[in-house]
Amino acid sequence: MIQSRELILVLDFGSQYSQLIARRVRELGVYSELHPFNLPAGKIRSMNPKGIILSGGPASVYDRDAPLPAAELFELGMPILGICYGLQVIAHRLGGRVDPSAKREYGAATVSIDDASDLFRGIEGDRTPVWMSHGDALVKMPAGFERIAHSPSSPICAIRNKERQIFGVQFHPEVAHTARGKEILRNFLYSVCGCQGGWNAGSFVEDKTGEIRAEVGIQNVICALSGGVDSSVLAVLLHRAIKDQLRCIHINNGLMRKGESDSVLQLHRERYHFNVAYVDATETFLAGLQGITDPEQKRKIIGRTFIEIFEQEARKIGNVGYLAQGTLYPDVIESTSFRGPSHTIKSHHNVGGLPETMHLKLIEPFRELFKDEVREVGRLLGLPAELIGRHPFPGPGLAVRVIGSIGPEKLQIVRAADQVFEEEIRKAGLYDSLWQALAVLLPVHTVGVMGDQRTYDQVVALRAVTSLDGMTADWAQLPPGLLATVSTRIVNEVRGVNRVVYDISSKPPSTIEWE
Ligand code: XMP
Repeated sequence: MIQSRELILVLDFGSQYSQLIARRVRELGVYSELHPFNLPAGKIRSMNPKGIILSGGPASVYDRDAPLPAAELFELGMPILGICYGLQVIAHRLGGRVDPSAKREYGAATVSIDDASDLFRGIEGDRTPVWMSHGDALVKMPAGFERIAHSPSSPICAIRNKERQIFGVQFHPEVAHTARGKEILRNFLYSVCGCQGGWNAGSFVEDKTGEIRAEVGIQNVICALSGGVDSSVLAVLLHRAIKDQLRCIHINNGLMRKGESDSVLQLHRERYHFNVAYVDATETFLAGLQGITDPEQKRKIIGRTFIEIFEQEARKIGNVGYLAQGTLYPDVIESTSFRGPSHTIKSHHNVGGLPETMHLKLIEPFRELFKDEVREVGRLLGLPAELIGRHPFPGPGLAVRVIGSIGPEKLQIVRAADQVFEEEIRKAGLYDSLWQALAVLLPVHTVGVMGDQRTYDQVVALRAVTSLDGMTADWAQLPPGLLATVSTRIVNEVRGVNRVVYDISSKPPSTIEWE
């Protein structure tokens, strides 16, 4: 982190929206990073943020092991905004009282603004729609605080200590359902914290280029180039920073989509003239995955095999100190929780699946970013629009799209079905409006009839979703005519499939991938 850059620090108390806060702040033109709730005060001081936001979280301040910030946090003299649980932390630490509400409040609510002079500037009046999600509520303000908003079920819905510039809101300004949320955050950044703004993808590239150069010194860095958006943008960023110290490796794990390895090599070797080593490790991966049905085990095996190969390649290159990966924030959040692995949803292989004894240090410049932020960086670095718009593809590839055990024939089926689906979606002009579209091979045989013959073949499930960042997603209401064409083509063209189904579940409660 470059010190001259304005920073808003977000302390994470475990809310699913924590990173969204940091992202909203960046959208508003100020660089922001998320750190654990217990970041020591000395460290905070040295980061010199313009302001601090305390996120929400699932705990109650009265829980025995409730996450609480460093005691000196409130003595740093920096503006603070507490959101939901963050508000309760402020109250609890500074002598107010929080009680379990008689009525829990989840979802849409309306609040009335009592004072629109700073945090709520421009938002006068009653009934502004907000998003609530809390069990406990503030019943007594700490000394020196005043109420600046109320709602029928939260009589003290927002508070302020004008002198110390400490604010708290019970609702979530970072989510889209809070109609004026962005303005509230903007007020905090610009009116309260006095930020100048101006941060954007360009400053990100500049900062990261400098940081990477300083970190790496004269060592070589290997970059895991899968061919997707993230690793391609990463390679271009790294090359900008360290030129020929960048050594890209593309590993064909046998779990890629059709033609993928060829197009990666073509782009990076021919267009960018990068040094890309190609390793065909199909047999090693498939041998390791033989008989494995558990999705988490698949991810771990794939992650481990990747690292083993990278380490072998690194030894061949020599003087390699780092492995660069295009890990994004949603990969991190779904693989870890702010207090350990108890809430792991999936071990995204470039995060949760790394072996503990890895010899290379990691460089992950996008760890704080969401996909669309990385796309923005890619656009700025001049990557081709077609690549930038490519749908995300999971690191473990088709291994998590063949449900149950994997083998070459099954991979062939899912690869062919995927290609048909993508082709038809592109033909219908819908590719760019979808976050992802994919085919999954189910471990089920069903009876069919083809040309008067009974068949007993496999089922392909199609999934297409719309999403902003992959954290939540809606199933896409594709036109029935398109689905009919895809279904007919798959059954006719992909041997071994006699039935196609369409997935109509959203995330949550489902996830985007089936495994
Ligand atoms: P889920 O299935 O968790 O996926 O809703 C969210 C997004 O992440 C991608 N995904 C992965 N990416 N390694 C990755 O690099 C993984 O293990 C992995 N699993 C899911 C998924 O394709 C979607 O875009």
